[in-house]
Amino acid sequence: MAKIRVAVLFGGVSSEHDVSLISAENVIRSIPKDKYEVLCIGITKKGRWLYFPGDITEIPTGAWEQNPDCSAAILSPDPLHGGIITIENGETYIKKGRRCLSGAARQKRRGRQTQGIMEMARIPYVGCGVLSSAVCMDKGMTHTVLDYNGIQTAKWASVHQRDLNKLDEKCVAIAETLGFPLFVKPANAGSSVGVNKANDLESLKDAVQIAFTHDEKVIIEEFIDGRELEVAVFGYDAPIASYVGEIEPAAEFYDYDDKYVNGTSKLYIPARITDQESDRIRETALRAYQALGCKGLSRVDFFPGKGRQRDPQRDQHPAGIHQHQYVSKLMEHLGMSQEYLVDKLIEQAMENVART
Ligand SMILES: Nc1ncnc2c1ncn2[C@@H]1O[C@H](COP(=O)(O)OP(=O)(O)O)[C@@H](O)[C@H]1O
Ligand SMILES: [Mg+2]
Repeated sequence: MAKIRVAVLFGGVSSEHDVSLISAENVIRSIPKDKYEVLCIGITKKGRWLYFPGDITEIPTGAWEQNPDCSAAILSPDPLHGGIITIENGETYIKKGRRCLSGAARQKRRGRQTQGIMEMARIPYVGCGVLSSAVCMDKGMTHTVLDYNGIQTAKWASVHQRDLNKLDEKCVAIAETLGFPLFVKPANAGSSVGVNKANDLESLKDAVQIAFTHDEKVIIEEFIDGRELEVAVFGYDAPIASYVGEIEPAAEFYDYDDKYVNGTSKLYIPARITDQESDRIRETALRAYQALGCKGLSRVDFFPGKGRQRDPQRDQHPAGIHQHQYVSKLMEHLGMSQEYLVDKLIEQAMENVART
C-alpha cells in the first residue's frame, strides 16, 4: 500500500519558535515510517516557508535553516493542488499524496491562520480547527468561553492598547477589584513568555508594558496560590482524559526557563491529590475541551488552591523533565505510546475531514 504523505510544519514567527522546533523533532521521530512518508516544512522567524529535506537532528538546533538543500515551500489554498508546492532550482513541484495530510507540530495555540489555509485546501490536519485554535490562543477568549460554560477560572480583567491613555486609572481599578499580587500576561502568547507577577501598582504598570510588547491585549489575573495540574485530552466525538499530572516548578512560578531550558521542574503522575479530586479534574478537563471545541489532542491545565488533602501513598519519585514531554508522558500512563498516539491522531484527522 502506498504510504500516506504527512507534512510536519514547525518553527514560525511567534516567540515559541524554538519550542516548536524541539517538539517537531520529537513528533517526527514518533511517526511510523512504514506507514507514512514525512515531509518537513520549516517556517523561519521571519515567516519564510522552507521545504527541508535534511537530517531531522538539524531541526532542534535551528541549523536546518542554513541547509543548502532547503527550497521555498508554498501551502496552496487551492484544493486542486492539495499539498505543498516547492520551488527547487527554479522548477515547481507539487508534493501531494494519495491522501495528502498535514500535521503541525504545535497545534493547540500556535497556528490558527495555518489551519484556515488547510481548510481551504481541504488538507486534513491534526488538532484543533480554526475557531478553537484562535479561542485557545487568546487567554481573554478562553476565560470568556469557560466562564460562560460555568467552568471556574481565576478572576480576571483585560487592558487593550487603545486604553493606553487611561492605563493608570485602569490599573488602579483592576488592582482594587482583584487585589495584589496579580499575574500579568499577553493575551496571545505561550510558554510563559511575557508573563510577570506584580506585587504593587508600579510593578503592575511595568508588567503591563512588558506584556504589551508581545500583544495589543493584556490579561491580568488574581494570584492563585495553587498547584500546577495537567490533563491530556484526546479524541474527537468521545474524548478521553488522561490521569492528572502535577508539576512542581523549580522557579517561583513555572517560567520559560523552567519549562524548556533547565528542565528542573518535576512531574508527578498521578498528581498528589485524592481520587475524588482527580475525578473532578478529569471531568472538568473534558468539559473544557468540549466547550472550547478542541479536537485531536490538547492539554488542559489546572491551578487549584493549595492546602488540599494529600494521599501520602501516592507520593512518587518524580523525574526532571521538559515541558514538551508532558502530554506524551500523560498519555503513556493510559497505555498509549507516542508512536501509537501520533498514528491515531493522523488517522482521526483523515476520518474527520472525510465526513465533513
Ligand atoms: N493567576 C495566576 N496565579 C498564580 N500563578 C500563575 C497565574 N497565572 C499564571 N501563573 C504562573 O505562570 C505560569 C504561566 O502562565 P500561563 O497562564 O500558564 O501562561 P502560558 O500560556 O504562557 O503557559 C503558570 O504555569 C503559573 O506558574
Ligand atoms: Mg501554561
